[in-house]
Amino acid sequence: MNILVVGSGGREHALCWKIAASPLCTALYCAPGNAGIAQEAECLPVKAGDIDGLVAKAQQKAIDLVVIGPEEPLCAGLVDRMEAAGIAAFGPNADAAILEGSKGFMKDLCAKYDIPTAAYRRFTDTAEAKAFIAEKDMPIVVKADGLAAGKGVIVAQSADEAEAAVTTILQDRAFGSAGAEIIVEEFLEGEEASILALVDGEHFVMLPSVQDHKAVGEGDTGPNTGGMGAYSPAPIVTDALTDRIRKEIMARTVAAMAAEGRPFKGVLYAGLMIGPDGPKVLEFNIRFGDPECQPLMMRLMSDLLPALIAARDGELKAFDLRWYAESAMTVVLATKGYPGDYERDTEICGLDTLPDDPNTVVFHAGTSRDGDRILTTGGRSLGVTTLAPTITEAQKKAYAVIDAIDWPEGFCRRDIGWRVATR
Ligand code: AMP
Ligand code: GLY
Repeated sequence: MNILVVGSGGREHALCWKIAASPLCTALYCAPGNAGIAQEAECLPVKAGDIDGLVAKAQQKAIDLVVIGPEEPLCAGLVDRMEAAGIAAFGPNADAAILEGSKGFMKDLCAKYDIPTAAYRRFTDTAEAKAFIAEKDMPIVVKADGLAAGKGVIVAQSADEAEAAVTTILQDRAFGSAGAEIIVEEFLEGEEASILALVDGEHFVMLPSVQDHKAVGEGDTGPNTGGMGAYSPAPIVTDALTDRIRKEIMARTVAAMAAEGRPFKGVLYAGLMIGPDGPKVLEFNIRFGDPECQPLMMRLMSDLLPALIAARDGELKAFDLRWYAESAMTVVLATKGYPGDYERDTEICGLDTLPDDPNTVVFHAGTSRDGDRILTTGGRSLGVTTLAPTITEAQKKAYAVIDAIDWPEGFCRRDIGWRVATR
């Protein structure tokens, strides 16, 4: 089969790495890809947002399956366009992608179908939102309705802070049209974890639990990022909790989307708060998480490709995936300054002299090649990913690799997996 992966991050590198190992894959392309992905796939110079360009390229390369990484092209209808052109695509169509594209839609769906989530109200009027906040206990959470690259959520400790968030998002439109509406919701206490599932419109297969580290600073401090590291499994997600998540969240959501005439196919990602009364949904994503995809691909023993095809074809019933019992960890290396301003085109050295170890993969997230040199193109640049008998060992191994990488302009959190050590 000819496969096209769309995207250019660590997630897409992990997907390409796994798909390239499939006996079903004869040719692998990635648009636009990065310097690491180029080791697995032929990179095509088409941006993930260029829907016409991607459809034309898929036709030209006789692609049998398109696998789409990021949320923007999914919400913009890339799956619809590929399928209309007769090209099979893995991921939700635009009607189903609204589950991530509009937090208001997601909250209303949860309310209608009894899917546990924080209490909320939707607002388009600044004064009404502020009057509502004035009556509420703090902390409180203010969210932009639309896609804001993980930055449209403010956990406010005071009413002043919450009102300032309303002004920034709704009035000043800091996130553009994504902030034409906001959600104000109850603050949930607990520990976060994520469960992803492959969904075929009706049936689903859950993947092992994973925990992300969204904040830029150690001890989960500082502004939120796309994710600074992740590991799987997340010990907080016990077998009993997994059962509840399957019944109360995944099964209800998949059935709800079908009942709404928006059957969901692709990756359903539930970002959860595990609190005193069980798991509640913080957000749904409609794609693999990044970096979450990296430790998950590291743990996946089965061929990924048949599972993606089965999801697209509506044939996941009785489908099974096998996983390594070991733990996997990804530590993200980013350019100093991220998630704020940072320098571009800095050079990363030492990648070619790392010891050969099948249980360590350095996934590239924002890199390009200039002759023999690896240069950075984005904030998050590498995802050092390891597999080991325990999370602590995976962590030790990941930091040893990081210490051997020579990149003075880069940084990482040194405490990925800290919650595991405190259990
Ligand atoms: P979201 O993109 O909606 O998952 O929000 C980003 C982050 O904000 C989450 O990973 C949580 O750390 C935090 N957050 C969002 N909603 C809530 C909430 N209702 N209670 C507590 N923290 C939240
Ligand atoms: N790491 C969070 C996300 O992919 O949304």
